[in-house]
Amino acid sequence: MKLTARSVSLVPIVSTVAAAALGASLIMAGNANAATTLGAAAQQSGRYFGTAVAAGRMGDSTYMGILNREFDMVTAENEMKMDATEPSQGRFTYGNADRIVNHARSRGMRVRGHALAWHSQQPGWMQNMSGSALRNAMLNHVTQVATYYRGKIYAWDVVNEAFADGSSGARRDSNLQRTGNDWIEAAFRAARAADPGAKLCYNDYNTDDWSHAKTQAVYRMVQDFKARGVPIDCVGLQSHFNAQSPVPSNYQTTLQNFANLGVDVQITELDIEGSGSAQASNYDRVTRACLAVSRCTGITVWGIRDSDSWRAYGTPLLFDNNGNKKPAYTSVLNALNAGGPGPTTTTTTTTTTTTSNGPGPGDCTASVSLNQWNEGFVATIKVTAGSSALKGWRVTTTLSNGTVTNSWSANRSGTSGTVNWTNVDYNANVPAGQSTEFGFQGTGSGSGLNPTCSAS
Ligand code: G3I
Repeated sequence: MKLTARSVSLVPIVSTVAAAALGASLIMAGNANAATTLGAAAQQSGRYFGTAVAAGRMGDSTYMGILNREFDMVTAENEMKMDATEPSQGRFTYGNADRIVNHARSRGMRVRGHALAWHSQQPGWMQNMSGSALRNAMLNHVTQVATYYRGKIYAWDVVNEAFADGSSGARRDSNLQRTGNDWIEAAFRAARAADPGAKLCYNDYNTDDWSHAKTQAVYRMVQDFKARGVPIDCVGLQSHFNAQSPVPSNYQTTLQNFANLGVDVQITELDIEGSGSAQASNYDRVTRACLAVSRCTGITVWGIRDSDSWRAYGTPLLFDNNGNKKPAYTSVLNALNAGGPGPTTTTTTTTTTTTSNGPGPGDCTASVSLNQWNEGFVATIKVTAGSSALKGWRVTTTLSNGTVTNSWSANRSGTSGTVNWTNVDYNANVPAGQSTEFGFQGTGSGSGLNPTCSAS
């Protein structure tokens, strides 16, 4: 294995199990640097190669054998959707999702969460809601699910498929859209507050061709979010291709243009109908396009064998019904082994804790969990009451080399240097020994925040 600087820098966020699996699968082939599995081949350039997994197939030994051998990222095909995780309002069920997440993590695979808010596959109770009741239910769903999986998800599809097809460039009409145009950014803010360590993605289909109105509309939304500090980290291109919707000639341009907005790009649900060399050639093009864009951080195929696909009739995947590798598999593996520049935004997570003023009666402590990447950071500040309950609190942080661009769950004064934070209404009261959290996002460095807390 050729260990590039980038692959070395990823070591802290790859578990020991993953490292062992990677080492085991990097058996030297004809090419001295060639990896023999999709995940290992992708890791050579700091990327991942994932698949959708269905809980109902986890008893199938052929399926599981391929999953465990080939992939290092997993998406639950249906099990994390709103109807699966909140079948009746306020009752959350994670059984099937947990089976997938726990299996993935036990094998050192990472997990993409799919999807927190979507017009489709809503539970029945939600389909009938509207207005502020629906908005609140949606935000509660995002908060509850992202909190439950906090720390376990590499990237969340926070909002899925919110734009209309065709030439309008408009938002898709849906009950969620009718709660107000800001429903998407509200969902992203709630997701960031619930799991500050997860990358937050907007995910859609028919956004592969740069010239299409839908692609342009999503681009403008992401551009606007970045300009206004709405927390978004990535754009997912589902990339379901067939004769009616072929791989566009400008696909790489689309990936690059989204990346230029300062977000990662992920190919999230790849499948390409067809067979033989024509299908293999299309898979090769898609893989090479990702490798050519440094912020295209990984590819996920939407299933393992053709027979596992939501459109099995189109034989769109990398393994045939018997689990044999297809020509498309070989073309992807070869393209990955040919490599490409690694992602530029390697995330490193550090956690520091600072205690101030106690704890004692009427006092509080503050600690920070910092997620720092090349150009920015997200800080989550935990405020803990001492031996008496807090009726209000004030936190001071120091930002020597960074600027706050966005914050949540606290009032702020200042954006750099000494920044003061005070509680908002709903988190003023903190029982003795209990905690509440607020957070902020910034550009530059978030190190040395050194939060201090006092009761107010
Ligand atoms: O599990 C039940 C089964 O018990 C029942 O007998 C059967 C009867 O129809 O339905 C089964 O559930 C189906 C489920 O897939 C599991 O196979 C649902 O009806 C069916 O609606 C569901 O389809 C999923 C589809 O999303 C729903 O929108 C597909 O598996 C899944 O691959 C597909 O994935 C979507 C992404 O989430 C978003 N992007 C597009 C992509 C493809 O449509």
